[in-house]
Amino acid sequence: MRSLARSARSSGLSLVRGFAISGAPVKSTTPSSPVNVKHFKIYRYDPQEDAEPRVQTYEVDMNSCGPMILDALIKIKNEQDQTLTFRRSCREGICGSCAMNIDGSNTLACLCKIDKTDSKPTAIYPLPHMEVVRDLVPDLTTFYMQYKSIQPWLQADPATKANKKGEYLQSKEDRRKLDGMYECILCACCSTSCPSYWWNGDKYLGPAVLMQAYRWIADSRDAKRKERLAALDDPFKLYKCHTIMNCTNTCPKHLNPAKAIAQIKVAIDNEIHAAHA
Ligand code: SF4
Ligand code: SF4
Ligand code: FES
Repeated sequence: MRSLARSARSSGLSLVRGFAISGAPVKSTTPSSPVNVKHFKIYRYDPQEDAEPRVQTYEVDMNSCGPMILDALIKIKNEQDQTLTFRRSCREGICGSCAMNIDGSNTLACLCKIDKTDSKPTAIYPLPHMEVVRDLVPDLTTFYMQYKSIQPWLQADPATKANKKGEYLQSKEDRRKLDGMYECILCACCSTSCPSYWWNGDKYLGPAVLMQAYRWIADSRDAKRKERLAALDDPFKLYKCHTIMNCTNTCPKHLNPAKAIAQIKVAIDNEIHAAHA
């Protein structure tokens, strides 16, 4: 069963799209006859049960559906097919759990508007090149292990005392250096759009985790800057980034992980390599 899931991952999006398409669409059960039907072609796969993935088509009446892709998924699950599996929580772009591939782009289902004017079906797949737990749910175990590996917490100098509230203060100017990084919701849209991560995801940390690494490297209150940089000075962990920019182009929060990666490389050149020259 694991090997099936693995094959879904390694086949990539274009091959995933070659899986068998199911026959008649499942119809909306809304009582009045639908007058504005939209079709959704959704990747279905349960590695415990299914020999191979398939695509299931659902009809949804847009007159009784909310505006976002997540609204359509919830409506399908509530009214047509309770077995359809996806993650979601906040429904407002904060938790990062509804990340998926919609019409070829990695994005958040709760922030992605349904194009009600386009008669073409909307294609919905899990984030590409990840093992599939079920349907639209990718296995993020490796992603979270990689996040843990960069020690994503403040490591202040023990000689520096926190104030009475337990806070380590920094100037407004230093705080501003974290803008554009602290907003990351770890949705993994960027990492799973990166070709380097597709092919070396076990060794290359990927844009999401590298930007979080730089978030701590750039933090004026952290005392481990040099150790953090030295730990990233690795041909796979960092230097598998070839500045293809898919990551920045796909981020649903409009962040720029490619820039953070470039800043790590410059810092390593200046502070680690230069010291050994
Ligand atoms: S950088 Fe953007 S795409 Fe990447 S994990 Fe963070 S929020 Fe998601
Ligand atoms: S810039 Fe680097 S991290 Fe971003 S998509 Fe390209 S190779 Fe991947
Ligand atoms: S449900 Fe939380 S980001 Fe979409």
